[in-house]
Amino acid sequence: MCGIVGYVGNKPTQPILLRALKKLEYRGYDSAGIAVLDRGISIHKDTGRVEILERSAPMFSGVIGIGHTRWATHGEPTKVNAHPHVDCTGKLAVVHNGVITNYQQLKEELIREGHKFLSETDTEVIPHLIEKYYAGDLETAVTETLPRLKGSYAIAVIAKTENRMVVAKNGSPLVIGLGTNENIVASDIPPLLEYTNRVIYLDDGEIGIITKDTVKISKSGREITKSISVVDWKIDDVEKGGYDHFMLKEIHEQPNVIRKAIINYDPSLTPMVGGDFWGNKGGKGLLILACGTSYHAGLVAKYAIEELMDIPVLVEFASEVNHRERVIPAANAIVLTQSGETADVLVSMKKLKAANCSILAITNVRGSSASRLANKTLYTQAGPELSVAATKSFIAQLMELYKLILLQPVVNEGLRQQLISDLRLMPNYAQQILDNESHISDCAMYLSQYSNLFYIGRGINYGIALEGALKIKEISYIHAEGFAAGELKHGPFALLQKDTPVVAIVNQDSTYDAMLTNIKEVKSRKSPVIALIREDDHETEKLVDMIIRVPNTHSMSSPIVNTITLQLLAYYAAKYRGCPIDFPRNLAKSVTVE
Ligand code: M6R
Repeated sequence: MCGIVGYVGNKPTQPILLRALKKLEYRGYDSAGIAVLDRGISIHKDTGRVEILERSAPMFSGVIGIGHTRWATHGEPTKVNAHPHVDCTGKLAVVHNGVITNYQQLKEELIREGHKFLSETDTEVIPHLIEKYYAGDLETAVTETLPRLKGSYAIAVIAKTENRMVVAKNGSPLVIGLGTNENIVASDIPPLLEYTNRVIYLDDGEIGIITKDTVKISKSGREITKSISVVDWKIDDVEKGGYDHFMLKEIHEQPNVIRKAIINYDPSLTPMVGGDFWGNKGGKGLLILACGTSYHAGLVAKYAIEELMDIPVLVEFASEVNHRERVIPAANAIVLTQSGETADVLVSMKKLKAANCSILAITNVRGSSASRLANKTLYTQAGPELSVAATKSFIAQLMELYKLILLQPVVNEGLRQQLISDLRLMPNYAQQILDNESHISDCAMYLSQYSNLFYIGRGINYGIALEGALKIKEISYIHAEGFAAGELKHGPFALLQKDTPVVAIVNQDSTYDAMLTNIKEVKSRKSPVIALIREDDHETEKLVDMIIRVPNTHSMSSPIVNTITLQLLAYYAAKYRGCPIDFPRNLAKSVTVE
């Protein structure tokens, strides 16, 4: 979704803004723009990629500026609707991430007062309001503007007559990077890493007044002291490192991500959450809340918690919970979110908190909004994930969930021990799959010719069938659906034909025979079948058209090896179809609107 950047320093700001915007491209956008302060404010905007903006922009001089990547919500992705937006006099420029829900009323009020609007955006009311309140001091004008705005925002504002930038936030992320003789702000950490690893995470309701040497934060008109966090991500983490796409790099990082997750794992550690977290209080149980890929990690966790701990778990889409009138009666909740900024998740968290639910967030981003809303936070060890398609963050979530569960007393100690040793071997298993990349790529070439695919799984791999289908649909644009294998005959069978390949995840557990029956049923409808099977499975291959072997793990940890295989399948299918893998159309990495 939209990304904002801002720079105040002693270097020419234009190249800095453009580089910073490129580091935010992963968030998803369809137009971009910059404003540079010199004697006046010079603005340039364009549709499409930052590269296009870079090529079309005149060279502006100036050491203060703001920039924006826009993911269209109010109005099409045109030059006029692109940010920065200005007031009537052109003395103020604003970039904004979020949605101003009362913009229509504000716009009518401002038009009545003589303000002229150029764009269809909600954002344009902000510079006009600041203009209305501006009497020579930008900080005061922004302070007076903010209470008028309903909805979510992270904004950066510059004014013609001031050598500083003012930023503010409510509901959308904003980080201030503290450099030497320069300060830089952005929606996320990657653009800052080139300048500093010392950052201030702005909280809702706070305003930052930034010069090249100072950062002042105020709240409700009073200056406050904020702690400085040190970020442990490196510049290399946000480069492609020789890979064609971030997605492929991130898939290949997974053996290390798993290694990092288990390096300090000691089964006798004190659990992050005690026994009371899992218990049922007054009829209220455990809820897992997430969206998209993170929701699929929740489905795996539900299965593992119910099987291993015998505790019932409800898994819900945050995008549903946030709009329900009834608050789900959960005593405790686990919230899974890579970015920690997914609007649906944050709204649901606030709702649950208001109902006294205690929340454990599992997120990949330190200082993210989810981490600040949660009662406790567990950080995944994935490092920055820049491809829109979630890969390593999903595996990192599974690792944290397994560790969390295995620190608790479980129903079957033998199984617990087996899983612990499986997880210790998992980096090697993951590597084995990557070593089989060319065969998986061949299977992907075959699938890439079709328009419709089914993915089927059972038990703990039901969520993985959904994840496999989501991954391939989002980056290759092939229509793919995931199903619990037994559900095919309850409807989806009607769609099976010889040109609907089925990807079947075959697990060596209580579901094995049922899955083979499902495969036979599918084959009788003439659909080609590609099966993911364990190395020691010699039955399934007799029934199907293609096989991809995965290492012999316990079925409970098999989601990891199956997912990595399906990620590669999706990646290569998208590559054969010539899709823009890291930036799929219409999608954003961090979905900061409901
Ligand atoms: O940052 P989150 O984990 O909260 O994001 C949730 C979804 O938007 C995300 O997983 C999305 O489905 C991915 N693009 C899938 O690859």
